[in-house]
Amino acid sequence: MLRPLDRPIPSPSELEDECIRLETKGLGSFGYVSSLMESLAAKTWRINKLKSLRNAVIPAHVYQRIEIIDGVADFIGDSFKLAHLCSQTKSEMIVFCGVRFMAETAKIMNPVKRVFLPASEAGCSLADSMTGEDVVKLKALHPGAVAVCYINTTAEVKAQCHAVVTSANAKTILKKLYDRYDKIIFVPDRLMANNLAKDLGKTIGKDMIAWEGTCIVHDQFDASWVERYRREFPGVKILAHTECTPSLVSLVDFHGGTGDMLRYVDSTSAPSYMLITECGLGDLARTRFPGKTFVPMCRLCPYMKATDLDRIESVLLDPAKAEEIILNEEVRVQAAKSLQVMFDLA
Ligand code: 13P
Ligand code: SF4
Repeated sequence: MLRPLDRPIPSPSELEDECIRLETKGLGSFGYVSSLMESLAAKTWRINKLKSLRNAVIPAHVYQRIEIIDGVADFIGDSFKLAHLCSQTKSEMIVFCGVRFMAETAKIMNPVKRVFLPASEAGCSLADSMTGEDVVKLKALHPGAVAVCYINTTAEVKAQCHAVVTSANAKTILKKLYDRYDKIIFVPDRLMANNLAKDLGKTIGKDMIAWEGTCIVHDQFDASWVERYRREFPGVKILAHTECTPSLVSLVDFHGGTGDMLRYVDSTSAPSYMLITECGLGDLARTRFPGKTFVPMCRLCPYMKATDLDRIESVLLDPAKAEEIILNEEVRVQAAKSLQVMFDLA
């Protein structure tokens, strides 16, 4: 295990500088009273200090709390961007702010680094919906079909698949694979499978075999809200994550992954935007596009919100065994192959 470190203490002037840095980063727009901003600044200062003492890097998914994103993250992104950047990092320690499948992906791609997940219990309803053994059984039921998994899966599931995809590249990769295979087993997200099958003109049950997993955040949004909000906010552009239901996705202006949604907002001009996804994306969009108007419509992911500054500091001070990502090497090597297929085809 790593040796414990003493908690560093900022001087009054270092604390003042950190408050100013957080204000200018965008946290100022959240209206924190000065005592709360000071307590946040003390934590972010200590974490950034510990990070350099440990030679650690902090990647954060865009759904993470804004004080993590603006206060301590070295890079942020969607699942695809984080997988790529974690594979490139030279730091010795990766403290992953996100959920387990993302931290596992970092370890798969960069096995010589020590990867820690501060919220060690942070799963994902999609990743938890199936096992590697379930993929083996599906492949036996559909000989000749190629197995593809969404990145929201365990290392064991990835190891049983030919290719991994993320919301940012699923359509492109499946399209390429359909040039070579008649049937694709796409797991574990049933709603995403239906959305992709529709986009690609394929039929579930015939060309695409789906699993029963869903995201507990995105499957809750109701399609009937879309028309109501269009009436209330004329000209609003409505964007939804591809994990939402097909009935909702068919009514929105754009669907894609979180990175695609941010790029859509950046490259268009509309009276207002509604981002139908986890609340963190809206918080981030408000700080990144202060001149644009966002109509709130979101749900919290309990897994994504399990990480906070205290838990990040605790991992850096004295990491617990349960917080480190350890994978079976045979599984890791197989999973790395299917992730590499994604990087080659994306
Ligand atoms: P993205 O890859 O689009 O960021 O999605 C990750 C996720 O967990 C969505 O719920
Ligand atoms: Fe998993 Fe849904 Fe949470 Fe994303 S938002 S981590 S898919 S449960």
